Amino acid sequence: MRRTVGSSAAPERAAVLAVLVAAFVGGAVVANRLAGKPVPFLRWSVLRFLLGSRRLVREGRVGDGREEALARRVVEVARPGDLDGVIELIDDFARRTSFLMNVGDEKGLLLDDAIVRARPLRLLELGTYCGYSALRAARVMPPGARLYSVESSAANADVAQRIWEIAGVSDRITSVVGSLGDGGATMDRLAAEYGFSSGSVDFVFLDHAKEAYLPDLLRIEDAGWLHPGSVVVADNVLTPGAPDYLAYLRGEEGRRWRTVPHRTHVEYQKVLPDLVLESTLLGVAQP
Ligand SMILES: C[S@@+](CC[C@H](N)C(=O)[O-])C[C@H]1O[C@@H](n2cnc3c(N)ncnc32)[C@H](O)[C@@H]1O
Repeated sequence: MRRTVGSSAAPERAAVLAVLVAAFVGGAVVANRLAGKPVPFLRWSVLRFLLGSRRLVREGRVGDGREEALARRVVEVARPGDLDGVIELIDDFARRTSFLMNVGDEKGLLLDDAIVRARPLRLLELGTYCGYSALRAARVMPPGARLYSVESSAANADVAQRIWEIAGVSDRITSVVGSLGDGGATMDRLAAEYGFSSGSVDFVFLDHAKEAYLPDLLRIEDAGWLHPGSVVVADNVLTPGAPDYLAYLRGEEGRRWRTVPHRTHVEYQKVLPDLVLESTLLGVAQP
């Protein structure tokens, strides 16, 4: 009698391989921890983040409660009104406790500088998460400026709102739950409730679903909300990557847009590269 060795051995081999890989990765994480975490992304909280990537795309949360834990930490530890202290506390939480997909401190400086240069009065952010980049924006915005931060997850928007209140910036930021690609509801709300109108938006920060960067920029352009001199900053153009957005701005370079690329790193480590694009609307096509 012939034995069907191949069909029963394959799942066993896969199971053994999975156990070996898990043991290797687990050992590497433990060794990294014992050595004082010299490899920043070889941490359980980063691996958990990567394992939760499908949920992350669906819900905008990792799924282990780290966003709520951050809000609790800020409420318990931060001094009310200490904006710098809250930003540092969030960076520290992301480095030592649980990795967070904030723009982070290195790329955050690029965002700060772009806002300082543009001196915008009306800012639009797509992708609030826990409100970290909004805190940074609020710190450097000129007096009288307001940031509208659009977030598809109501739970994330709630975490951000609690953090902004502790930091003392909730009077300068408006949280909008929704997305520009929801068939017009959120764009209509921005127009009707918050006065978004022709040429009214000075600065946009794109930091939401990477495949939505280009369609949402085109929606904003089509709505006529930008004006010559409006600045759009986009995070994560290399990692995870927004290739169609990059190609669009390359094609428009010197015509409708002028873009400065900033080579940088993925948040909270210095190994994985990333690219932040800072684009200024020129407004008229040039021959
Ligand atoms: C990378 S995080 C934003 C980080 C934040 N800007 C910071 O630096 O602190 C991306 C966020 O975008 C949200 N998101 C995903 N798709 C979205 C969309 N189409 N519109 C608005 N928010 C979206 C996710 O729920 C998540 O909270």
